[in-house]
Amino acid sequence: MTDKTLLRALKGETLPVPPIWMMRQAGRYLPEYRATRAQAGDFLSLCYNSELAAEVTLQPIRRYGFDAAIMFADILLVPQALGADLWFETGEGPRLSTITDAAGLAKLKGRDDIHDHLAPIYQTLRILKAELPKETTLIGFAGAPWTVATYMIAGRGTKDQGPAHTLMQADRATFSALIDLLTESTIEYLSQQVLAGAEVIKLFDSWAGSLKGTDFDDFALAPAKKIITELKARHPGLPVIAFPREAGPRYAGFAKATGADCVALDNSVSADWAAANVQSSGCVQGNLDPRHMVTGGEDLVRETRRIVEAFSKGPHIFNLGHGITPDADPENVALMIETVRAGK
Ligand code: CP3
Repeated sequence: MTDKTLLRALKGETLPVPPIWMMRQAGRYLPEYRATRAQAGDFLSLCYNSELAAEVTLQPIRRYGFDAAIMFADILLVPQALGADLWFETGEGPRLSTITDAAGLAKLKGRDDIHDHLAPIYQTLRILKAELPKETTLIGFAGAPWTVATYMIAGRGTKDQGPAHTLMQADRATFSALIDLLTESTIEYLSQQVLAGAEVIKLFDSWAGSLKGTDFDDFALAPAKKIITELKARHPGLPVIAFPREAGPRYAGFAKATGADCVALDNSVSADWAAANVQSSGCVQGNLDPRHMVTGGEDLVRETRRIVEAFSKGPHIFNLGHGITPDADPENVALMIETVRAGK
């Protein structure tokens, strides 16, 4: 039996105090992150500088003692490894060259061609494996195929994922082939992460909520199932956290349908509903509104306690419902952790 609390929760154990980590825990709300990012030059240079990427991953562990560290990288490095252009517009977000038809898709590389480009990410994990405290779990990750495809098709983040839905309708063969390429590339990428030291894998499907009905089955459930099944075949016992963000009622049954060990919940679902309908079939992660990291105070304490209490009868990993924002106050993070660890 491991003493890593995060692994114990993922194995289905109900712990007196839930393990805690935070999406985007290495990020711009921390002055030490901003300093290292400036040293690296820009965000992508930081992702590909293994020493500095490991350093920013460790910063929130040193400051707060989180139970898990998520390697510092980005979900959009996979499209870049496949040959897409990628850059970040300051204050706006990612930009990519777009895939809009079969000819564009045909120019991409194959699933086995990505590892030279992604080698620095594997090196980040090796450094972290050596440097993390023994009680801290190391999480690797990738974007889920649908979410990554929405950026590759539109060339940027979109509010409603319109361009990806349009391609799905207009040219289903090309759209499905892109999903398949991403599914297979993601399996190879995550498998290398495990070999480099990742103990848990998280699959981010940030835009799963815009898939409805059979589209959700085909492009959120099916790729996740394929990735998780293959990873577990190659790495028996590997725990996987799936985050089909804003899946709403589709959170229920997601773990069973995909083989995920844990479902991460965004803050639009009520903790009481999720305890009854999602946690009933396994571990859940979440789901404090990240705005509390900006506003703090009594509301933060009350909401944190409410979530801990709602999930106290089953396996639970405390987290935010989405990433912490740059305007968050580092003191509020400390208050959240103190509240979780103080018990009910
Ligand atoms: O959680 C962590 O601390 C690990 C590192 C991590 C980052 N991005 C670092 C990052 C992880 C797991 C991600 C995942 C990611 N990246 C997702 C899925 C999760 C989610 O937030 O829904 C998505 C959609 C992306 C794509 C992406 N990367 C966007 C849309 C942006 C711009 C928006 C923003 O927050 O600035 C990024 C940039 C990014 N990725 C930053 C960080 C710390 C900020 C970049 C900076 O330092 O300027």
